[in-house]
Amino acid sequence: MELKIAIVTCSSTRTLAEDQAGTNLAAKVRDRGWIVTGHEVVPDNRATISEAIVSYSDAGADIILTCGGSGLSLADVTPEATADVCDRNVPGIAEAMRAASLRITGRAMLSRAVCMQRGTTLVVNLPGSTKAASECFDAVCAQFEHAVQMTAGGGH
Ligand code: MTE
Repeated sequence: MELKIAIVTCSSTRTLAEDQAGTNLAAKVRDRGWIVTGHEVVPDNRATISEAIVSYSDAGADIILTCGGSGLSLADVTPEATADVCDRNVPGIAEAMRAASLRITGRAMLSRAVCMQRGTTLVVNLPGSTKAASECFDAVCAQFEHAVQMTAGGGH
């Protein structure tokens, strides 16, 4: 199944060329045979992050992976920006990422990441470091195709 996936890195300090975490995620998406419909870096600004999510969702992305901005710094607003433009929470995906990550580092409990649906788009908050984003992607990506099929009205 060919999933359309957009990557939105949320960082006020990183340029697209410096976005190793997002570039690595894009490579992992392509390795699975899925399509990267966009990859951009936006600043840690709630409205700007929300706009990027709406834009990729309206353009037909099945999944939007955000990267960064989900920690405890007051500048971290990715979960709030996600909730501002999404309809329904999908808590199990965030729970699965934290459960898998806690086996690697106790710092995983500092993640405020959410996973939510905006219409038929699934938005998944990933952490901002290359290693952490990769680990969290690996923890949940096996369910992406089934998630998109179910969103489209398919059964198990
Ligand atoms: N998850 C994994 N697998 N590995 C990590 O190193 N770091 C945690 C957490 N999740 C981490 C992880 C830390 S330190 C933070 S602050 C949160 O992700 C949020 O990261 P972010 O602010 O870069 O989004």
